[in-house]
Amino acid sequence: MIIAVTGTPGVGKTTISKLLAQKLGYEYINIKELAEERSIGKKAGDEVEIDMEKLVELVEREFRGKDVILDSHLSHLLPADYVVVIRLNPEILLERLRERGYHGDKLGENLEAELVDVCLVEALEEHENVVEVDATGKSPEEVADEVAALMKEGIKKRVGIVDWSESYEKILPYLRR
Ligand SMILES: Nc1ncnc2c1ncn2[C@@H]1O[C@H](COP(=O)(O)OP(=O)(O)OP(=O)(O)O)[C@@H](O)[C@H]1O
Ligand SMILES: [Mg+2]
Repeated sequence: MIIAVTGTPGVGKTTISKLLAQKLGYEYINIKELAEERSIGKKAGDEVEIDMEKLVELVEREFRGKDVILDSHLSHLLPADYVVVIRLNPEILLERLRERGYHGDKLGENLEAELVDVCLVEALEEHENVVEVDATGKSPEEVADEVAALMKEGIKKRVGIVDWSESYEKILPYLRR
């Protein structure tokens, strides 16, 4: 089956996806690298904008019926049987993204996306089987184990498990204005 691991940049998708792939014996697919390899992108300034229509076709063609994990903050927009939305308290995300050197609008946009559940809401618009996992205060190993356990128990939908409203004041100064 196709498992899409999504979430705001920096929440730990890549770290967790690789562990989960090992645990389940699935193939790990990094969507950004795949898109670059297959030249499915339009240059937009120094960033590459992925052609989603072509990417959807490619995923459908190459991975449907296979056991793969798709790692991307856009993976919830791709064909998938199971969508895992990784969540992280925005105050922790703030520290992680600042360590990466994010600042200004780029920092604000990502914090805002986590605060208001952008990936979750978009995932629910596209898919039935959506589970949220809160990575806050957990090791990547623990998060991967939690996902594997949910799948083993046959839990297909588990959403609305986090509430970041208490972080709002702390995050507010960094948000876009
Ligand atoms: N559960 C965790 N606890 C502590 N640190 C973590 C955890 N998960 C990931 N990290 C660290 O946070 C950073 C970001 O993780 P990672 O690259 O996996 O995020 P990502 O969601 O894939 O980001 P991007 O969307 O930019 O690809 C890395 O330095 C990673 O080692
Ligand atoms: Mg990543």
